[in-house]
Amino acid sequence: MIEHDVKDLGLATAGRYKIEWAESQMPVLKLIRERFAKERPLAGLKVSACLHVTSETAALARTMQVGGADIVLCASNPLSTQDEVAASLVANDEIPVYAIKGEDTNTYFRHLNAALDHRPQMTMDDGCDLVSVLHKERKDQVPEIVGGTEETTTGVVRLRAMAKEGVLRYPVLAVNDSMTKHFFDNRYGTGQSTVDGIVRATNILLAGRNFVVAGYGWCGRGLASRARGMGAIVIVTEVDPLKALEALMDGFQVMPLIEASKIGAIFCTVTGDKNVIDGHHIAVMKDGAVLANSGHFNSEINIPALEKMSIGEPRMVRPFVAQYELKDGRRINLLGDGRLINLAAAEGHPAAVMDMSFANQALGLEFMRANAATLEHDVYTIPEVIDREIARLKLASMGIEIDILTDEQAKYLSSWEEGT
Ligand code: ADE
Repeated sequence: MIEHDVKDLGLATAGRYKIEWAESQMPVLKLIRERFAKERPLAGLKVSACLHVTSETAALARTMQVGGADIVLCASNPLSTQDEVAASLVANDEIPVYAIKGEDTNTYFRHLNAALDHRPQMTMDDGCDLVSVLHKERKDQVPEIVGGTEETTTGVVRLRAMAKEGVLRYPVLAVNDSMTKHFFDNRYGTGQSTVDGIVRATNILLAGRNFVVAGYGWCGRGLASRARGMGAIVIVTEVDPLKALEALMDGFQVMPLIEASKIGAIFCTVTGDKNVIDGHHIAVMKDGAVLANSGHFNSEINIPALEKMSIGEPRMVRPFVAQYELKDGRRINLLGDGRLINLAAAEGHPAAVMDMSFANQALGLEFMRANAATLEHDVYTIPEVIDREIARLKLASMGIEIDILTDEQAKYLSSWEEGT
């Protein structure tokens, strides 16, 4: 048996079914896999991937394996692992996996290090923890790495900060920056799966309730629109005047979080920043308020402040619902330890949207292998031709055809003489 640290290999059959279900909704990745099987563009490439260990990630890992990559996988969040999927990858695909749902911080970092013990030539990261450990604690290994990919906004922000400081030691492709990633995954994926996570955890009725969305980036836009679709009265809070204006013109109420705190029933952060919901916000919230986060890290809600304001330990009133009693008797419900609720209490983005995100990962890895030597130690975007090809394939898989420009129209668009 290959090396691994998963919850229970006995779950492998359930995991296999779950992976097959996801793969049936990932037609673009399937096409890539068929080509990879013939061309083997990743032959012999050692990859350490730090991703949410879900059925969709399994589909990606299996695609990379078919392409010839020698891959190991660890979790990119302590609470996002699907244990049955982890078991199946080990037992059925011989992919070493280090991930257990609910692992503590020590185990999380032990698993990251186990993935790096693989001595990868490429990293595939979601949130930049793998790259960060490598650059801070395993510097000796860095020269062996030729390139990497990064999945999410938070990771890209961290990588750009590293590049700016001149400490990034190899080129990384920002998968998040592809249009076929953030337009769809961040918006429709986060939108749907976050509502799913909040509803699965609480079974709360959204219709007619004040639902506060902190942050109006791609994830916030998706969440606000999906919450409205369920009948919630959506309030958006922002720090960026442009995004705030957009939210307003999209038809949402916009106000400072301290005002929203007085009237909100459900709060969800999607900002990528820290202490967005802070003690002074919690201090004015109504009894029974529900707090969730769908940003990458569990730092968006100031949990230590909530703990300080509370009497004793919280009660786990339902799975993923910790109820804190404040000194004045009000109860505040924190979902999923403040970790991304769409993966903690639900199953993350649906496969049909991860199809495009992971098509970017697979093609990004192939691109990086072919081009890493020509790139600086910087953050790059996947070439637009690849991005558009993914969109074209996705449309084709859905049976949707679109128009093409006539020669006359194409010429018109590249000329300036013709006018009124
Ligand atoms: N990030 C958000 N949803 C995900 C999923 N289903 N699989 C992997 N990463 C994700």
